[in-house]
Amino acid sequence: MNKNILVTGGAGYIGSHTIVDLIKAGFNPIIIDNLSNSSKSVISKLEELCQQKITFYNIDCTNEQEMCNEKIWRNISGVIHFAAHKSVAESVKKPEKYFFNNVGSTEIILKNMQRHKVENLVFSSSCTVYGNPDILPVTEKSEIKKPTSPYALTKQKCEEIIQSSHLKNYAILRYFNPIGAHKSSLIGEINIKNPNNLVPLIAKSIKEKKTLHVFGNDYNTHDGTCIRDYIHVCDVAKSHVKVLEKLIPHNLKKYILNIGLSKGFSVLDLIQSFEKVNNLNIDYKIGKRRDGDVEKIYADCKLAEKELGWSPQKTIEEALIDAWNWEKKI
Ligand SMILES: NC(=O)c1ccc[n+]([C@@H]2O[C@H](COP(=O)([O-])OP(=O)(O)OC[C@H]3O[C@@H](n4cnc5c(N)ncnc54)[C@H](O)[C@@H]3O)[C@@H](O)[C@H]2O)c1
Repeated sequence: MNKNILVTGGAGYIGSHTIVDLIKAGFNPIIIDNLSNSSKSVISKLEELCQQKITFYNIDCTNEQEMCNEKIWRNISGVIHFAAHKSVAESVKKPEKYFFNNVGSTEIILKNMQRHKVENLVFSSSCTVYGNPDILPVTEKSEIKKPTSPYALTKQKCEEIIQSSHLKNYAILRYFNPIGAHKSSLIGEINIKNPNNLVPLIAKSIKEKKTLHVFGNDYNTHDGTCIRDYIHVCDVAKSHVKVLEKLIPHNLKKYILNIGLSKGFSVLDLIQSFEKVNNLNIDYKIGKRRDGDVEKIYADCKLAEKELGWSPQKTIEEALIDAWNWEKKI
């Protein structure tokens, strides 16, 4: 079996952690990233961690001309398409930017997969496709509801495009909220602009000795703050290896799978856990709600367990310790 895997956005947060597991499992990842939310140093850290050279192309996936270069596609047996913009808040302000990058890159990837006869695609989707769900936990059969942000809409659109494409083999992975970092603290979450996700926001507030703003405490939840399903990024990474091992040897496999911890934690629960496991005090205050935020969502991941034999191995506490160890270094 040819084990060359093209990984768009492989220098990013989830992508870099996945590279480590791909290499461990005997795959040969080839990274494409335009470094819009990462840096070249991630590639050297990955090489240090994996003790091998990694092929890296600094290319924008929306650049049709560069993306169709034969050299990139030679002997590729699968693609993991992570590359996207991911800030819900920014997408509300700049919806076109999100459409152009997230949907545009997916179209170009699909076109090239067809042109170069590459069959297996793993696509990074998001729990945001479920909108504000009526019933919790959400399963893959839950309704795809009205998107609460342009970012969510881009993920819905990409899922539609993939499902109606020529592809016979694909996996759409709907991640919930990846947190934490690799144990080595060599790789972790980087935000070139201001962070939007809770854990990097907590870390920023501690490091800069600034008050953390909690976006609303008037939601219909046990403490009024939003509920999410936080999962260690290394567990998310592992799901990609599991799914590729299923996709590559088979034909006609079409997966849509939730990837989460299957537990709901509120913003305040997470802040308190972060304080406890890292022995820190977080200065926070309640502010206004943020546009695009869903009230509460957490996953049912039984399907991923059944289909892939995948289930998360790490706790939220481990993720919060690993996250802080990484943040202290950057
Ligand atoms: N982190 C989360 O909370 C989360 C949750 C659900 C889904 N996702 C999805 O998972 C994927 C990876 O997310 P992440 O957290 O690792 O984000 P990230 O920003 O850390 O990684 C994305 C990488 O893609 C690169 N990139 C962006 N646009 C590109 C383009 N046009 N061409 C080439 N490279 C490009 C960036 O430089 C970055 O390195 C994204 O598709 C995101 O929407 C993330």
